[in-house]
Amino acid sequence: MTTVTVCASKKYDIKIGSGLLTSVGDEAVKLGKAKTVAIISDSNVFPLYGGIVENSLNNADFSVVSFVFPAGEESKNGNTYLELLNFLAINGLTRSDLIVALGGGVTGDLAGFAAATYLRGIRFIQIPTTLLAAVDSSVGGKTAIDLPAGKNLAGAFCQPSLVLCDIDTLNTLPEDIFRDGCAEVIKYGILYDPDLFAQLEQDGLHFNREKIIAQCVRWKRDVVMEDEFDTGLRMKLNLGHTIGHGIEARSNFSLSHGKSVAIGMAIVAKASNCPDTTRIRRILEQFGLPTTTDYPVDDIYRYTLSDKKRSGGEIHLILPRRIGLCDIVPTPIDQLKSFIQAGL
Ligand code: NAD
Ligand code: GLY
Repeated sequence: MTTVTVCASKKYDIKIGSGLLTSVGDEAVKLGKAKTVAIISDSNVFPLYGGIVENSLNNADFSVVSFVFPAGEESKNGNTYLELLNFLAINGLTRSDLIVALGGGVTGDLAGFAAATYLRGIRFIQIPTTLLAAVDSSVGGKTAIDLPAGKNLAGAFCQPSLVLCDIDTLNTLPEDIFRDGCAEVIKYGILYDPDLFAQLEQDGLHFNREKIIAQCVRWKRDVVMEDEFDTGLRMKLNLGHTIGHGIEARSNFSLSHGKSVAIGMAIVAKASNCPDTTRIRRILEQFGLPTTTDYPVDDIYRYTLSDKKRSGGEIHLILPRRIGLCDIVPTPIDQLKSFIQAGL
C-alpha cells in the first residue's frame, strides 16, 4: 500500500493499494466520533462493492445506511442532491457522523457536495472506483452538481477526511471507461513528469496501477497544496479540457469526457507547435484514445466559448512546451478559432 498525505485546509491521507475495501471500518474508527455511516453509491457500483463496505463498517460497530442512485451523470443534479440530503436527515445523521462516497467521479462529486452542505458540513471518505476518480476527482476537495444551465455550476470546496483507493475495484471497470481515465493519467505526464510519460509509453495499458495512480496523486496533491481554491496554478489541471469540453458538448455528450480531453490535448500540442506533439499523439493512440475530430472548427469554437472558464475577452489555454512543462496562456477569443484550426 502507498500513502500520500495532503496538507491543505484539512490534512488527510490517500491510501492506494489492493484489498483496501475491507479496511474501511477500521479506517473510519481511526477518524473518531462517528456512530452512523451513510454509504452513497450508484446502481452499478453498489451491487459490486456495497456489501463489502457495509460488512466492514458493521464489523467496526457502525450503524450503516445506504443511498443508491441511478448510475450516470444525469443523476448528478439538484433532485438527487436534495433526495440525498433528506435521506441523511431522515436517518438522523449528526455532525459527527460520516459519509462514504463509493464510486466514480459522479458519486464523489454528489456525495462530497452533500457532505459539504448537510448540517453545514460533515466528514466524508472518498472511495474512488474509476481510474478518473482515483487520479483526479477524489483528491483535492472539488465537489459539485450540475444545473440545467451547465455542468458543475453548484458546488463547494470540501476536502475529504480520507481517500481509500482500492485498485482491485478497477478490475470490473468496463475497458472503455478505464481508457477514459488513462487520458487523465497521460495528462499528468505531459504537465509535470517526463519519467511518468516514458513509463506509460513503455507499459501501455498494463502499467503498474498502484505505482502510477500514486504518482498522479502526488502531482495533484502538490497542486492542491499550492492552490487549493483554484485561483491560479490549479488551472493547469485543465490541460486539454477547455477545447475538450467544447468537443464533448458538441457531441451532445455522446463522446466521453476522457476521449474529448484526449482530442483537446492533441489539439493544443499541435497548435502550439510543441516539439513533443508526435509523442503526445502517439501515446494517446497507444491507449486507444482519439486525437482528432470531424466536427467543423466553427462548432468546436462556439461550444468552447460557452465553457464557464472564459473570462472577459480571453480564455485560458494550457499549452505544452515539452513533455513535463506546460504554461497557462491567456488567449484572446478572436485568436481561438484559428488556434483550434491549427491543431486539428
Ligand atoms: P462515473 O462516476 O459516472 O463512473 C463511470 C461509470 O462507471 C458509471 O456508469 C459507474 O457506475 C461505473 N463504475 C464506476 N466504478 C466502477 C467499477 N469499479 N466497476 C464497474 N463499473 C463502475 O464517472 P467518472 O468518469 O468516474 O467521473 C466523471 C465525473 O467526475 C464527472 O461528473 C466530472 O464532472 C467529475 N469530475 C470531478 C472532478 C473533481 O475534481 N471533483 C475532476 C474530474 C471529474
Ligand atoms: N480536476 C481539476 C481540479 O481538481 O482542479
